[in-house]
Amino acid sequence: MDKIKSQRAVVLASGRGSNFEALVRAEKMGELFPFQIIGLISNQSGAGARELAKTYGISDVLVDSTSFKTPLGFDRFRYEKKLLECLNSLKPDWIFLAGYMLVLGPEIIRCFPKRILNIHPSLLPKYKGLRAQKQALEAGDKITGCSVHYVTEELDGGPIILQKSLAILPSDTEETLSERLLPLEHQTYREALQLIAKELT
Ligand code: GRF
Repeated sequence: MDKIKSQRAVVLASGRGSNFEALVRAEKMGELFPFQIIGLISNQSGAGARELAKTYGISDVLVDSTSFKTPLGFDRFRYEKKLLECLNSLKPDWIFLAGYMLVLGPEIIRCFPKRILNIHPSLLPKYKGLRAQKQALEAGDKITGCSVHYVTEELDGGPIILQKSLAILPSDTEETLSERLLPLEHQTYREALQLIAKELT
């Protein structure tokens, strides 16, 4: 039998990092084979994900987006150039976005066609963009959920790999709903990767 090639994955995260941690733990438990998380790239120096990377012994690279600020705003071109350099030096087969709060530019997306995944806290195509849980509450929805999808140039618009739903409680606030959704996000990301893994092996 041919040896299955390990799939090098880099996680991009901007914040707390609970999805990153869940993926790392699943990988360490042997649940994500053949995916291997070989690095974290963060755009925020204070991201909790960076501390987690240290804890789990995963290489952590900072491409600090705040240092690309210009008097006119944000130099996206230079930032993305640097990010792509870092990605290329890690040689990933896959990129997993896990709470990466910037929109990934078309140049990077084109370098990794159908190789970038994202987790989004809504039942896409509903509530793309920021604060999806708030959008679901404001719409008066009774059910929300999360989606893992391929990243394309359309924001939160790529093909969906897996979705799971969750009942919204009458007492829910944006905070409680986001918190209750998180464990489902972790599970959905893991299972979406397992679906892809099946196709690879
Ligand atoms: C999650 O809700 C994820 O769906 C969204 O940003 C949040 C990140 O949380 N894209 P964490 O940093 O993984 O804890």
